[in-house]
Amino acid sequence: MDLAVIILAAGKGTRMRSRLPKVLHRLAGKPLVQHVIDTAKQLQPQELVVVAGHGADQLQAAIPDPAVKWAIQEEQLGTGHAVQVAMPQVSAENVLILYGDVPLISVRTLETLTAAVRPGEMALLSVELTNPAGYGRIVRATDGSVQRIVEQKDASAEELAIREGNTGILCATREDLNRYLAGLQNDNAQGEYYLTDCIEACVQSGGVVHGMVAANEAEVSGINNKSQLNELERVYQQQAAERLMEQGVTLADRDRFDLRGEIESVGRDVSIDINCIFEGRVSIGDNVTIGPNCQIIDSTIGDNVTILANCVIENSTIEADCNIGPFARLRPATELKQGAKVGNFVETKKAIVGKGSKVNHLSYVGDAIIGEKVNIGAGTITCNYDGANKHLTEIGDNAFIGSNTALVAPVKINEGATIGAGSTITREAPKDTLTLTRAKQINITGWKRPVKGEKK
Ligand code: UD1
Ligand code: CA
Repeated sequence: MDLAVIILAAGKGTRMRSRLPKVLHRLAGKPLVQHVIDTAKQLQPQELVVVAGHGADQLQAAIPDPAVKWAIQEEQLGTGHAVQVAMPQVSAENVLILYGDVPLISVRTLETLTAAVRPGEMALLSVELTNPAGYGRIVRATDGSVQRIVEQKDASAEELAIREGNTGILCATREDLNRYLAGLQNDNAQGEYYLTDCIEACVQSGGVVHGMVAANEAEVSGINNKSQLNELERVYQQQAAERLMEQGVTLADRDRFDLRGEIESVGRDVSIDINCIFEGRVSIGDNVTIGPNCQIIDSTIGDNVTILANCVIENSTIEADCNIGPFARLRPATELKQGAKVGNFVETKKAIVGKGSKVNHLSYVGDAIIGEKVNIGAGTITCNYDGANKHLTEIGDNAFIGSNTALVAPVKINEGATIGAGSTITREAPKDTLTLTRAKQINITGWKRPVKGEKK
């Protein structure tokens, strides 16, 4: 369909009580308006125009998307005025109006809505509400056809009793919409140019308004305050949890699962304990078990991986059969090869841990390439930073690094080398050799430990 989408986002959002423009508050980790933009894009519009006003600079900086055109509404004179401001940028045949603070609108609903539009015929999305307070009411004729919308503040007692509310989402041809907009007046209770008056204009010019009732309220709910933001966050998360369970994932608790991005793929027999957060793009293989309180960001988790409690994994690639945690932090560019183990209180960064290698306790491994079947003892530190530059530590296959070793990079530990515990290694350690820098132990006989003086 030859379509333009206009997203209204000029309002201040006073009730958020924030310096951030309302539509930049985040739902599932993503700005509200970005949800709407992403949904709109699925309709493949010819033009996508966002109307900004309050905080327009902040808004434009936060959405650096060349596909988005901006219309600046200096003064918020009403929803009709907002659309007027955007229309000069529209050349597509049909125009769909969306809202930057209505984040959960679905593509399917919009497809159905836009399909009803042709010259002289517009489409309007309404919603049945138990409490319609604050909404414009849909006034229908006795034959059921939509006649007009009356705003709450302009409504009679009889009209206030109507429970069908206006979502604000509508679609018309560009030419019709331009004509209706040109006729808007602001002689109403709020002194605003109401977009909603286009409905009556359409009917009066002999046109038809196709009223479509939204399937669920959350989809068309707008956000005005933090409480509503949280309500829709939970709706979003429940839907995300539901989708994962449909794919066979076992969730310990659907209410304690958070997705702030996308799980691009998930295998069979995956189980996720409580309070896990997935961010960015994550993919998960078969038979993966994820313990409680893990945060997994932009990472790939292979088959048969076990992640124990309280791990943070970012921008990492975990091959099959690895064990991670508890309390491990895998920072960006960590690669665990098949069967590797990274255990308690270990931090890695830009590190390759080879097949079957183990870093089990209390270590920092940064800027390192570790071969296969290496054992890194407890408390091993790669000293990768000299205050100005980062340096590489290389460890060959089958090396054994004793506990509490400092590897001062750049440094190379060759295949099969053994490093004695407590060493500070500054030079290359040869192959199949024991290297240690430990001071010799001395035993002083007859030495007396100081004793505390007696109290007087
Ligand atoms: C509007 C509708 C009402 C509907 C309700 C649904 C009109 C006149 N009324 O009322 O029928 O039930 O939405 O929530 O359209 N905006 C601008 N520029 C403006 C005014 C508004 O960009 O000059 C944006 C706001 O940022 C907001 C949206 O349009 O995202 C709706 O504006 P708002 O003032 O909240 O409209 P309502 O009074 O709620
Ligand atoms: Ca208003």
